[in-house]
Amino acid sequence: MNQTYNRSDSKVEIRGFEARHYDVLMNFITGGTYSVFIRRVVRDMAIQPGDAILDLGSGSGRNTCLMVRYLSGGGRIVGLDIGPEMLKQAQRRCAPLPNVSIEKQRIEEPLRYRDEFDKVFMCFVLHGFVHEDRLRIVENAYRALRPGGRFLILDYSEFEPEKSFWPVRFAFRHMECPLATDFVRHDWRAILREGGFDDFRERRYYLGYVRLLGARKPDEAAERA
Ligand SMILES: C[S@@+](CC[C@H](N)C(=O)[O-])C[C@H]1O[C@@H](n2cnc3c(N)ncnc32)[C@H](O)[C@@H]1O
Repeated sequence: MNQTYNRSDSKVEIRGFEARHYDVLMNFITGGTYSVFIRRVVRDMAIQPGDAILDLGSGSGRNTCLMVRYLSGGGRIVGLDIGPEMLKQAQRRCAPLPNVSIEKQRIEEPLRYRDEFDKVFMCFVLHGFVHEDRLRIVENAYRALRPGGRFLILDYSEFEPEKSFWPVRFAFRHMECPLATDFVRHDWRAILREGGFDDFRERRYYLGYVRLLGARKPDEAAERA
């Protein structure tokens, strides 16, 4: 039977203790492997020195500090988040970085950006929204990207939670945001294709349960030339 989910089922707006200690908790949950994993993901993003990157649900700023190492003075990162504790940590961490700004913004609401980013990144955020809000976020990412820019989603890949490896099954039953169970049952390439994206590429991690899915906003002018 297909279960229906409401916004109140979401756990992605992390607050309080969990928000203040998010980075440590991620290291703990992944048996100390998270730091190495996220460095590998950032390397796999193929960031170019002049890239403008929009990070939707930027969290504590840990990823921002890793991404900014690949940028020259011409590149920049804009991180958007809604959680007060997350914003505070990220703003403190990124204060010395002139090409980074962290802003308070709900990412499923209309964003002011049009055709200006080379990459839109989301790291373990998209699964935590009801599906109609996920589609709004996909639209926001499309609008914010320059033609030829790439949407990079680091999140769970597609699988059936009840048939997964037992630690994953346990996490999905008892720890993870309930909406993640719905997220992994969707065909994300089909959804992104419907949203206008093409040229899909992916890299898998953690026995294939996690992936970095990349999709391009087509550059019609370049293709005509
Ligand atoms: C699971 S954490 C991931 C944080 C960060 N991307 C990382 O990987 O370290 C989810 C993040 O999304 C943010 N978030 C949740 N709902 C949001 C919303 N509607 N708009 C903006 N940010 C949101 C939370 O505050 C939190 O920082």
